Amino acid sequence: MHSSNSEKLQHSEFEYHVRIYRDEDRQQVHELFENAMFWQPHSPVRPFLKIIAKSSIQKALYFASAIGILLWPSYPRLGPAILLTAVAISLSQFILIVQLILKMTKKNLSDDLADVRGHYELIPSPETLGHGHEDLLPSGPKAFWVVEATHKVTGRTELAGCCGIDVRNEAKMDGELRRMVVSGRHLRRGVAAMIVRTAIAYAKSHKLSSIYLSTSMAQEAAIQLYKKFGWVEEKRRDIAVFGFTAQIVHMRLHLAEKFRSELESL
Ligand SMILES: CC(C)(COP(=O)(O)OP(=O)(O)OC[C@H]1O[C@@H](n2cnc3c(N)ncnc32)[C@H](O)[C@@H]1OP(=O)(O)O)[C@@H](O)C(=O)NCCC(=O)NCCS
Repeated sequence: MHSSNSEKLQHSEFEYHVRIYRDEDRQQVHELFENAMFWQPHSPVRPFLKIIAKSSIQKALYFASAIGILLWPSYPRLGPAILLTAVAISLSQFILIVQLILKMTKKNLSDDLADVRGHYELIPSPETLGHGHEDLLPSGPKAFWVVEATHKVTGRTELAGCCGIDVRNEAKMDGELRRMVVSGRHLRRGVAAMIVRTAIAYAKSHKLSSIYLSTSMAQEAAIQLYKKFGWVEEKRRDIAVFGFTAQIVHMRLHLAEKFRSELESL
């Protein structure tokens, strides 16, 4: 039987709660993001490498390597030359894709994540002013949340996930869900679901008409998460990367329709 998120949270050794980002979270948020892009089980790196490994270019290179090995005994110069060339081209395709994801990750870290407080327009909470630490509050429809995990026995806390709502076009009042990541240690415990619920409720309270996002076809866990909460796929955009085609998936959650159906059901 499939256990519900609340059951999963109950049986976890951690207690989770969602709160607004604070300045002191910066380092942990950066680490969460880097880990989620590379080392986490659902990071996009692994599926991209698998896709490349199965691509027609790689298949041709495996074939060329096999030919090189077969020719080696009869042609001691040509055989190894074919083998080494094929292996070098094959490896460089894998290295290039890892470098590309590394470059994109660094770009994201130097974009909104370099100054979460400024970018998401968070302002000091009047209640904590002068109390030694500073809680922040959103000043408008933009917001950035973290999930804090507290170990039930040791009381130690760490960040389990984060996500933000960005609003770039205030006239249309559409929000963008960005930087949704959960730490590898806290996966499948409903952490992402907690932030998504918070983000949807917040967007509704600010009368945003929809929340859009983009992800990649390699991020299957993320796609399933968004579908579960009502996001629909709008389009897929092909991008050619070093001899194979990757797809960027654009999704949108229509909140205005939800308002309408909620009003109709009253
Ligand atoms: C996607 C991600 C944020 C999900 O975090 P999570 O806390 O493990 O997700 P939850 O436990 O809250 O799961 C909520 C729902 O998401 C979907 N989901 C989560 N992980 C999944 C997986 N591995 N396979 C399929 N569906 C999955 C399910 O629908 C799940 O509901 P269910 O538990 O009732 O089946 C996490 O895997 C992650 O950080 N991935 C790498 C970074 C990334 O791709 N971020 C998205 C950027 S656009």
